[in-house]
Amino acid sequence: MAGNWKMYKTPAETTQFFEKFRPLVEKSEHCEIVICPPFTNLAAASAAAQGSHIHVGAQNIAWAKEGAFTGEISDAMIRATGATHAIIGHSERRQYFGETDETVLKRTQAALEAGLTPIVCVGERLEEREAGNTEAVLIRQFQGGIAPLTGQQFAKIVIAYEPVWAIGTGKTATPEIAADAHRVIRAQVREKFGKEAADAVRILYGGSVKPDNVKTLMAQPEIDGSLVGGASLDPVSFASIVNF
Ligand code: PGA
Repeated sequence: MAGNWKMYKTPAETTQFFEKFRPLVEKSEHCEIVICPPFTNLAAASAAAQGSHIHVGAQNIAWAKEGAFTGEISDAMIRATGATHAIIGHSERRQYFGETDETVLKRTQAALEAGLTPIVCVGERLEEREAGNTEAVLIRQFQGGIAPLTGQQFAKIVIAYEPVWAIGTGKTATPEIAADAHRVIRAQVREKFGKEAADAVRILYGGSVKPDNVKTLMAQPEIDGSLVGGASLDPVSFASIVNF
């Protein structure tokens, strides 16, 4: 269960979140928990998570080790904060910051080389779904951003399916729609990396996941976890998602 805080919270607010959140998930060892705050809060989050089983992740990662890349943050900088994961290719990055399947691949490779776990996001926009192109979009994103990895690299990634029309809109994909998309992605994985990899890979669903809909989504065997935006900002709400 991963929380994507997007551009919310200061370091002080991050610390306050963990004070409330930690006791609520103390016994939740059934799943891996990752919180992805803005870069400026990563160190505070790692310090606040110390001694718990909560992991901390960044929301992006540079493909270069260092250099003239104004506004980018490298793998070494992320690792130095204690973070262990990185969200890559979120639809908001694709939509507003020019992220492409090619840059998603480069960032994923950089994360893997640094020993960070990438959470690679894919998902169709509303007009793509309405035009009947969902499957084609998912296949294109998979082929461009994920398929060129080696099998060994692939084994370390997490995939998040996030239909863009369901993000922050309150419109959750029905569990069936989400499961269908997951099946498309898993079929691609099977074709490229084999059955074992397809069975093992974790595919998260994201898009308006809330305490009151998490259970029906997670009841789908295809859905292995969720990537939660808005509902991860509140410790009680995110804990109830983790503990559904
Ligand atoms: P949401 O965001 O839960 O607020 O819809 C999900 C995401 O963008 O990761």
